Amino acid sequence: MSGAAIEADSVSARSEVDVLFSAESIAQRVDALGGEIAAHIDRNCMVIAVLKGSFVFCADLIRALHRAGMHPRIDFLTLSSYGTGTESSGDVRITRDISDDVAGMDVLLVDDILESGRTMVFAKRLIEERGAKSVSICVFLDKAEKRKVAIEADHVGFICPDQFVVGYGLDYAHYYRELPFVGVLRRD
Ligand code: IMP
Ligand code: MG
Repeated sequence: MSGAAIEADSVSARSEVDVLFSAESIAQRVDALGGEIAAHIDRNCMVIAVLKGSFVFCADLIRALHRAGMHPRIDFLTLSSYGTGTESSGDVRITRDISDDVAGMDVLLVDDILESGRTMVFAKRLIEERGAKSVSICVFLDKAEKRKVAIEADHVGFICPDQFVVGYGLDYAHYYRELPFVGVLRRD
């Protein structure tokens, strides 16, 4: 599918995406994740959303953390490893840095997908080097079979099959982030 075709068709996204995780199952899982995380990390931790892909997940997750009794600070780190295609470049860069000091903080890094692991290795090292007391990782989706470097998340929303998925914050060439569910792009 060409970029132009996506642009023209983006309003009819529902018809070209096969649902993998429904909005209802995501809501249930994210709520449970809040409880799991609250049992393992300091109530006054710092949540760092790794953007762009995690913005929808993180917005739901922090409210689940609130329901679980947590009182986190929130910051945002924008990293890029993908161009506009579907293959990782492996070259991670900071597009926009956090603004808070992480020294001495228990940090929870939140990302959309753990795939090769390069993004999270980069982010974890960065926050550790800045003196965080601890760094935990929560990812919405884990494509475990695609790992290229040794790293695992402490908290995982769903195990994801080896398919390119969109929605719930995840994009293909900057589109589909608005879908309330996660689905696989039909490419015919
Ligand atoms: P990695 O773990 O460094 O390979 O990169 C993971 C990042 O690639 C994620 O944070 C996403 O932004 C992006 N990504 C990986 N798989 C997908 C996918 O299926 N859909 C959309 N973005 C993806
Ligand atoms: Mg990402």
